[in-house]
Parts: sequence; C-alpha cells; structure tokens
Amino acid sequence: MNSIDRYAVIGHGLTHSRSPQIHGLFAQSTGQSMQYGLIDVPAALFAATANDFFSGGGRGLNVTVPHKEAALALATRLTPRAQRAGAVNTLAPGPGTDPSALLGDNTDGAGLVRDLTVNLGYTLAGSRVLLLGAGGAARGVIAPLLEGGVGELRIHNRTTARAQRLAQEFADLGAIASGGDAAGGEYDLIINATSASLRGELPPVPPKACGPHTLCYDMAYGASETVFLHWARGQTFGKMVFRVRVVTLAGGPLPFGISVLRHLGSWISAAILGVGYLVAAFRADKRALHDLIAGTRVEHVT
Ligand code: ATR
Repeated sequence: MNSIDRYAVIGHGLTHSRSPQIHGLFAQSTGQSMQYGLIDVPAALFAATANDFFSGGGRGLNVTVPHKEAALALATRLTPRAQRAGAVNTLAPGPGTDPSALLGDNTDGAGLVRDLTVNLGYTLAGSRVLLLGAGGAARGVIAPLLEGGVGELRIHNRTTARAQRLAQEFADLGAIASGGDAAGGEYDLIINATSASLRGELPPVPPKACGPHTLCYDMAYGASETVFLHWARGQTFGKMVFRVRVVTLAGGPLPFGISVLRHLGSWISAAILGVGYLVAAFRADKRALHDLIAGTRVEHVT
C-alpha cells in the first residue's frame, strides 16, 4: 500500500494550471506527505480516468473545465451545494468503505464570495452583477451570489439558450435574468466564468456593461494577465480619458481658443493617465494575487 496520499486536478487544456505547486505548498505547510498530479483528459475519457484514479487509491480530485457537469453525474452522493449548483468541482472517496462511492462537492461559490467580500471588501448586497458564461463554473457561483444578496444577477453567454436555462433553473433564489444588451448599462461587478481565458480569448461582453467603477473578476488565471482583465483595464482607461476631455471642453476657458483647450485637455489627460496607470497597475497586481488565491481555494480538496 502506498503511504503517500495521491491527489490531482483533472481537466482538459490545463497548460497553465498551478494546482500542483499550490497544493504542494499546502502540503509543506501542514507537514503532509502527498503527491499532487495533473490529469489532462478529453470529455470522453473523464469518467473512466476518474474511476481508475480512485480504485487505485487516489484520495481526491479537483475537477475543472470542462468536466464539472460530468463529475456531478459520476458522484454517487452530493453535498447540498453541489446538488443546487448542478456541478461538482471536488470528488473524494466515500462516505464509507464502498470503493465505488464518490462524494461530490462544489466550493466554487464559497471561494468566490469569500474572495470578493473578505479579500476585496466588496459589498454584494444590492449590487448589479453580470455573470459571463453558463457552464460548470457559472453554475457553481449563482446560488451563493444570490444568497449573498445581489440586487440583480444577469447571465450572459455565447450560447444564449444555455444562459436562459440557467436563469430559469435558479429563478426561485432571487432576481436573475439572462441576456444583457446595451440597455443593461453599467454593472457593479462583471465575473468571467467562461473558459475563454484558457484559450486567450475574450468572451462577448454587452456594450457599456463596464464602466470606471465596475469591478472585473476573472475566475480563470493564466501564465500572465488574462485577456479579460487586460480588456477590463482598457475599459477603465478609455472612460477616464473620455471624461476629462468632456469636462475640459465643456468647462474650459473658451477665450483662450481651441488650441489652448487642446493643450490643456492633453495635459490633464496625461496627468490622469499617469495616475490611472498607477492605480490600474496596483489593481492588476492585487487581482493577480487574488486569482492565485481564488484558484487555491476553488481547487482545494476537502
Ligand atoms: P466550465 O466548467 O469552466 O464552466 P464548461 O462547462 O465547458 O466549462 O463551460 C464553458 C463556458 O465558457 C461556456 O459558457 C462557454 O460558452 P458556450 O455555452 O457558448 O459554449 C464559455 N466559453 C468557452 N469559450 C468561450 C469563448 N471563446 N468565448 C465565449 N465563451 C466561451
């Protein structure tokens, strides 16, 4: 019998996963002897691979894109939050000694809400939230966000029918809708729960959804800043510069002529851009750290 506990993350397209390093650090700090692997399998091989892992003595799997809904079907017992989500991100043997028994849990929502409210100091109550994506990751966070008191939750997905189905499924928990055209205006929080970041792509975002005060949160991380976070920073910049120009032209000293106005506008824009850059860089660092921490929490086997 192998005395070293075996854990792994299972998904497909896991090139940038830091789970082995993160869980290695957990093991070091808790003095645990364990191996943590990375299993990359396509959907067709997920169930057989996960079953082999557990029948070979594996102690736990973190499940990530695109297997969270398949993991729900594989589990023989579910925690209430996994059942409500309709998706599983952690699998563990048991309960009991039956070798085929598998418990499925979902920690995505608890991890996200904790990161937002505790680490970022964000107030969920009453806020307008746009959720991008309608797959397993999105499923995991809807109930905890609604239970956290968000004022409005709108699901926007590339395949609109999936977003509509999710909105109907969770309608009993609060103000949830699907779609999200330009009329939706600016949101307080935009969460990217799609897997687009893993392919270096930007998911469709409704026009005008992101404003200077919108907090943009990516549930995925990559080797560097994701396309979504990069886009979000660009949105904030654009708005700041635009605002300064409007204020200068509307309230500037007209008698000095348009060229003076132009210079003044450029100078103020440059100053604001400088400050904006520092703020954005600081926020980006914070986000990168939070992404790492969120990834840790989301994928932790309990
Ligand atoms: P996960 O477990 O990460 O949620 P998933 O269940 O395969 O994985 O769901 C992936 C989600 O990301 C879906 O909402 C998918 O949109 P579709 O329903 O239209 O397939 C979304 N997604 C993936 N790649 C995307 C891209 N390039 N642009 C926009 N959305 C994308």
